[in-house]
Amino acid sequence: MVVLVTGGAGYIGSHTVLALQRAAHEVIVVDNCANSPPVALDRVQQLSGSALVFHETDLRDTRGLSRVFDERAIDVVIHFEGLKAVGESVAHPLRYYHNNIAATVSLCTVMDQHDIRKIVPARSHQHRQRLAGIAFALLQSRRSRPIRAHR
Ligand SMILES: NC(=O)c1ccc[n+]([C@@H]2O[C@H](COP(=O)([O-])OP(=O)(O)OC[C@H]3O[C@@H](n4cnc5c(N)ncnc54)[C@H](O)[C@@H]3O)[C@@H](O)[C@H]2O)c1
Repeated sequence: MVVLVTGGAGYIGSHTVLALQRAAHEVIVVDNCANSPPVALDRVQQLSGSALVFHETDLRDTRGLSRVFDERAIDVVIHFEGLKAVGESVAHPLRYYHNNIAATVSLCTVMDQHDIRKIVPARSHQHRQRLAGIAFALLQSRRSRPIRAHR
């Protein structure tokens, strides 16, 4: 399968990318490197012995993201992108909402335009659960049904 991993240069994302490559999946990573150095992906490729495609793109850049989806037919998206420092999110809630929610809306918009219905959202904070709700709302309105819908 061709799997797009958002936030794939991050902690959980990079481990997931390695596992996907070891399972012989083709991986595309989109990350703006706000919280992770791209060198993490060099190490993943060294460990797996497989190349991946990396786009240093902000998910909120809907046009840039759309070009990523134009390049290659994507089967599924695993969505790890986000800022997640608890203290900072309390100090700067609007920055966090803008980064995480606007990014997910942008991602779902581009997925919708490219008729891609499979997404695995990361869930750990309340707002991430709401993000899952956005994704499920979009996908439920189409022919596919989500396997699980946590709120
Ligand atoms: N770390 C944990 O123990 C844990 C556990 C459960 C769930 N989660 C969730 O998994 C997700 C990833 O966690 P992590 O620990 O890997 O975090 P992380 O900060 O290491 O990775 C997140 C990645 O998203 C990227 N990013 C942020 N904003 C972006 C944007 N607008 N456009 C593109 N890329 C952007 C960052 O550069 C970073 O590489 C988070 O949603 C987190 O809440 C984490």
